[in-house]
Amino acid sequence: CTHLGCSPQFRPEVAPADLGEDWLGGFYCACHGSRYDLAGRVYPNMPAPSNLQVPPYRYDDENTLTVGLDPEGAA
Ligand code: FES
Repeated sequence: CTHLGCSPQFRPEVAPADLGEDWLGGFYCACHGSRYDLAGRVYPNMPAPSNLQVPPYRYDDENTLTVGLDPEGAA
């Protein structure tokens, strides 16, 4: 989380009881309540000041995406 560094939860379900009827799926940070959409963009008026950081990734082929590569060790 771009607020104070907690790990947001991936919550893809729509309108779960604990997040409310307006929840469309995304990432939720339980530490202070920041909400992000499915692309990691923070909603207005949240404690988090900016969007989630996109980790390094690469397309291995047209059906495979590898996420979390070490940029220094990437092949
Ligand atoms: S650390 Fe995520 S909302 Fe504060």
